[in-house]
Amino acid sequence: MPTLFLAAWTLACSADAPALPPEAERGRVVYAANCTSCHNADPAKPGSLGPEVKGASRELLEARVVRAEYPVGYAAKRPSTMMQPLPKLAGEIDALAAYLR
Ligand code: HEC
Repeated sequence: MPTLFLAAWTLACSADAPALPPEAERGRVVYAANCTSCHNADPAKPGSLGPEVKGASRELLEARVVRAEYPVGYAAKRPSTMMQPLPKLAGEIDALAAYLR
């Protein structure tokens, strides 16, 4: 029994076979292609330039990624303004939010 449980757990958590719902899987690909030059491939960790973004809300992602702004009253993790807006990703915000949730 414990062996079976471990096998299932390993499968579910393996990086090669992510058990993500389709929208989150799409977000993972968009993130890998557009964000990991600065943010960590593991969104829970700080990247080379950008902070950790795990748990970022849809509202934060829309403001920051599309318009280079922050939602009203949001306390930004960094005071810098290095990240350029990526308005071409406006249609991918739901997917990014599903992945980073
Ligand atoms: C050119 C490097 C770069 C790229 C590419 C980039 N970011 Fe950033 N990001 C940053 C930096 C640096 C910050 C910290 C604020 C600043 O300097 O703009 C940041 C801040 C953020 C924040 C705000 C974090 C907080 O809570 O204060 C979010 C959310 C974010 N990035 C998401 C993304 C997503 C999603 C992508 C891909 C679609 C992306 N970033 C692409 C560098 C980048």
